[in-house]
Order: sequence, then C-alpha cells, then structure tokens
Amino acid sequence: MDMLNRVALVTGATRGIGRAIAQHLLNQGFELAVFGRNQDLLAEWESQSVVALAVDVSDAAQVDAAVHEILQRWGRIDVAVNNAGITRDGLLMRMSDDDWETVLKTNLTGVFNVCRAVIRPMIKQRSGRIVNVASVVGIAGNAGQVNYAASKAGVIGLTKSLAKEVASRNILVNAVAPGYIDTDMTRALTEEQRAVLLKHIPLQRTGQPEDVAKLVGFLVSEDNQYITGQVIRCDGGLMI
Ligand SMILES: NC(=O)c1ccc[n+]([C@@H]2O[C@H](COP(=O)([O-])OP(=O)(O)OC[C@H]3O[C@@H](n4cnc5c(N)ncnc54)[C@H](O)[C@@H]3O)[C@@H](O)[C@H]2O)c1
Repeated sequence: MDMLNRVALVTGATRGIGRAIAQHLLNQGFELAVFGRNQDLLAEWESQSVVALAVDVSDAAQVDAAVHEILQRWGRIDVAVNNAGITRDGLLMRMSDDDWETVLKTNLTGVFNVCRAVIRPMIKQRSGRIVNVASVVGIAGNAGQVNYAASKAGVIGLTKSLAKEVASRNILVNAVAPGYIDTDMTRALTEEQRAVLLKHIPLQRTGQPEDVAKLVGFLVSEDNQYITGQVIRCDGGLMI
C-alpha cells in the first residue's frame, strides 16, 4: 500500500517520547492523528495538518468517539501507538488508592481502551500494527514504583495475548521497553541520582526520545513483517 494512504494514531503525543514518535511517523508520510491532554500543545500539531484530539485515554467513551472521528475522516486506521503514561511514585506501604488506581487506569486501561477501539477496523482491513510503550521497569521492577511497574508488566501481558489473538488477521502487536530516556518524566532526578544511573548504562548516556521513535517507526513499517508479540528494549544496554 502507498505509504501516503496509511493512517497512524499516537497517544500522549504532546511532548516527550510520544511527540518524537508522532513527528517520526509524520516524516515517514503517515496521515496522523494524535491524542493528548494539553490543549496548547495539541494546537501546535493542528498547524501541521495533524488531527489533534483532546482525549483522556483512561476514558473509554472518549477513546471510542475519537477513533470514530479518525475513521470518519480517513476510513481506516493502520497503526496505533499507545504511548500515554504517567508516574505517581512512592513506597507501597504509603501508596494511596488514588495513586495506584490512577496509574493503572491511564497506563494499562488506557492501552486496553485504544486497542479495543482500533482492533475491529484493523481486522476488517486484515492489516494493522500496534505498538505499546512499556518500560524496562515492567520487566525488572523498581522500588518506589509498584503501581507503574504493575501497569507496564500488564501492558506486556496484554501485548503478547493480543498478538496471539490477531496474528491470523495480519495484525502485528509489539511492545517497546525504554530505559532511561531524557523527557519531562525523568528530568525530576537529581544530578546525583543521574550519575548513579549512568554508571549502569553500558552506552554511558541517557536515551533520547528519537531513539525510541526510530524503533517504533521500524516496528510499524512495511519492513516489519515477522515480528509480533515481542518486548524490545531500548535502554542503552541497561538490562543486558
Ligand atoms: N522517559 C522515560 O525514561 C521512560 C522510560 C520508560 C517508559 N516510558 C514511557 O514512555 C511513555 C512516554 O513517556 P515520556 O517520558 O514521554 O512522558 P511525558 O510525561 O513527557 O509524556 C507523557 C504524555 O502522555 C500524555 N498523557 C498522560 N496521561 C494521559 C491520558 N490519561 N490521556 C492522554 N494522554 C495522556 C501526556 O499529556 C504526555 O503527552 C510513557 O508511557 C512512559 O511510561 C518513559
């Protein structure tokens, strides 16, 4: 299929990794829709002929309505990248119900909501690519992040299960697991914490959002015909 007719959706695309993924797909020639929460930054996307929709991914009705809007406009949806995610860190013994539930609802239920909304049109098309942004923390765990780690481990389980459900329809579903990527989410670390972390990264640098974007770009491209149900780390060797 001509690349120019391919339609992609990226969630949480107002900044950070999601923004880099969306820009990469736009550069590759995709028709693009983005979901995000920040109105001003969404307006920036609109100026680039991108369909920018204010959608909270944890709200199934909002997701369904937005996917419907994409289908009304382009009649198809070829790629969905579930990137939206949040952290609410703290030790388990002090974690509030709200910090647990909000993280699970955004990071895991949000992925479920979007996958469920796009899977029917993809099945009808008999083609599609889904990439879910997990985390190395979902594989290895991390003290102070039981909510986040559980949500990302859940995303990995969802990814593998859905990959098995839809493989016969030529829909490939993968996860990427970033390590330490330079974004607003990680900038809160102190210089000291950063230095300790760098010691554990064989490539001796933090990742850039573009490092993740290029990996996602490959997974959703026509060059990927035989990789599905995988969790691909993008972590500078952190978890070797
Ligand atoms: N930065 C890292 O080191 C790192 C490492 C591993 C995984 N990740 C994952 O990568 C993804 C992007 O992270 P980032 O560092 O770019 O974070 P970020 O905080 O810079 O950006 C997150 C984006 O998600 C959006 N978002 C949050 N909740 C939303 C909701 N309910 N509905 C719609 N949009 C929502 C935000 O508006 C924002 O655009 C997340 O899933 C995160 O867990 C990041």
